[in-house]
Amino acid sequence: MAIRKVEHPFIQYGAKTGKSYKEMKEAEKFLPGGVTANIKHFAPYPIVMNKGNGAWLEDVDGNQYVDYLMAYGSLALGHGHDDIKKAIQDQLFEDGTFLFGTPHSLETTFARKIKSYYPSMDKIRYTNSGTEATLLAIRLASAYTGKKKIAKFEGHYHGGYNEVLYSINPPLSEAGDEDKPNAVPESAGMDFYLDQKPLVLPFNQPDATEKLIEEHATELAAIIIEPVQGGFIPAEQQFMDRLRNVTKKHGIVLIFDEVKTGFRSALGGGQEIYNIKPDITTLGKVIGGGFPIGLVGGKEEILSISKPKAAGDVFDVGQGAESSAKEILFHSGTYNGHPTILAAGLATIQRLEQDFDATLAYTNTLREKIEDLGKKANVPLSTVGLGTIFSVICTRDSNIRHYRDLQKTNLELRKEMDFHLLNEGIYTKPLNRYSISTSHGEKELEATLNAYQTVLNKRLGGDGMS
Ligand SMILES: Cc1ncc(COP(=O)(O)O)c(C=O)c1O
Repeated sequence: MAIRKVEHPFIQYGAKTGKSYKEMKEAEKFLPGGVTANIKHFAPYPIVMNKGNGAWLEDVDGNQYVDYLMAYGSLALGHGHDDIKKAIQDQLFEDGTFLFGTPHSLETTFARKIKSYYPSMDKIRYTNSGTEATLLAIRLASAYTGKKKIAKFEGHYHGGYNEVLYSINPPLSEAGDEDKPNAVPESAGMDFYLDQKPLVLPFNQPDATEKLIEEHATELAAIIIEPVQGGFIPAEQQFMDRLRNVTKKHGIVLIFDEVKTGFRSALGGGQEIYNIKPDITTLGKVIGGGFPIGLVGGKEEILSISKPKAAGDVFDVGQGAESSAKEILFHSGTYNGHPTILAAGLATIQRLEQDFDATLAYTNTLREKIEDLGKKANVPLSTVGLGTIFSVICTRDSNIRHYRDLQKTNLELRKEMDFHLLNEGIYTKPLNRYSISTSHGEKELEATLNAYQTVLNKRLGGDGMS
C-alpha cells in the first residue's frame, strides 16, 4: 500500500505567493516586520492583497480567495459594497466637504439609529477607533466613580494601551491559577505602568469571578468585558446575570466592549442576546463600514460628565475660567463624527437590516457543513460562535468556555489546516476567527466546502508548523 506523505503546506504556499514574499521583503526595508500593525503579520510571511470585491480578495500574484477575515470583522457587507460607495458619494456631493469640524446633522441621525438597537445608550460620543472608545469608557468610569482600578477578563482584547494590554494570550506558564489569573503584560515597554495592572478575572466562571470582585470591590471603577470572548466564545447567561448583579451591588461600572460583537452577535450585539443593560457600551468596526470609527454610549449620568460647560475644553484659555478643566471629562478628536464615515456606517446598518438574517443562515450552514466534513474525514473539528462570527476548533470536545479551554485544543492542527486552506483559496488568517458578510452566498459556500474537502483528504498532522 502506498504511504501518503505529510505534505507541508508552506511548500505550495511559497510556490503560489512568490510576489507577496518579494513585496514583504521590500516592505521590511521601510516598515518594522514589513507591516503597519502587528496583527497583519504571520509567519513565514503574510499574503499581500491588491483587490477586494464582495466576499473575495485577490493577491499580488493574482490568486483569488474567499475572504473570511473581513478586515477583522469590520466589513459586514463585504468588500466595496455598492450601498456604501453610493452613500459616500452622496455625502461628499451633497455636503461639499470631507470634514466640517463643527456639529452636523448626520451625527444626530446616526446616534438615533444606534440607540434604536442599543437602548442602554442614553448618550453617545464618537471616536476614531475601538481603542479610543474603550479608553474613553474607562476614563468615564473612573471620573464617575472616583476610583482608579479596572478589571478585565483573561483572553479579552480591548485595544493596545497600557490599562488593558494584559492577559490576552498569556503563556500558561505565566498565567497563574485558572480561578485567579495573573495579569501578564502583552507588550515590551510596559514596565513603567506595572503598578497600574488591571485585576484579571476568569471568563464564564461565576463563582471565582464574583469572589475576586467582592475582594476588590472598593477599588474597582469598572469591569470591562467582551460579552462574547473574541467575538466567538459566548458568555453563559447565568454568568452574565451574576456579573450584572455584583457590579450593580458595588456601584462598579460595567462596560460591554462590543467592538467585535456589535451588529454581529445580533444587530443589538451581546446585550440583546443576554438582555442585559451595561452602564457603558463601546462599538467600532462594523459601524464604520470599513472606515475608522469607535463609539461610546451609556447612561446619561456617566456620559454627561463629558458635557462641556462654559468653556468647550482645555484649549479655551482665558475665557473667564467659570469651571476648572478637571470638573469636565476631556474628550476630543479632530475627526470624531466624520461625515463620510457616518454615511458609510449608516448605509451598512441599513443593509444589515435587510440582509442580517440571510448572513446568519449562511454562517450556520457553513458551520454545520464544516463539522460534517470533519466527522466524515475523522478529523477532530468543531465550531464555536455566535451570530455572524465563529471559529474552527480542532477538538472533539466542543464545550469551549474560555481562554484555558482554547489552549487545550490542537492549535497546531488548526494552523496547518489554515495554510492548506490558503493554498486552496480560502482566506483565514491562521488561527483567526471567521467573520461572514452579506456578500457570502452559494458560490462562496461551495468554494469553501470544496476547499475543506480537499484539505481534509490530505494526511494532516505535519510537524514544524510552529
Ligand atoms: C473587542 C475589541 N475592543 C477593542 C478593539 C480595538 O479596536 P481598534 O482596532 O478599532 O482600535 C478591538 C479590535 O479588534 C476589539 O476586538
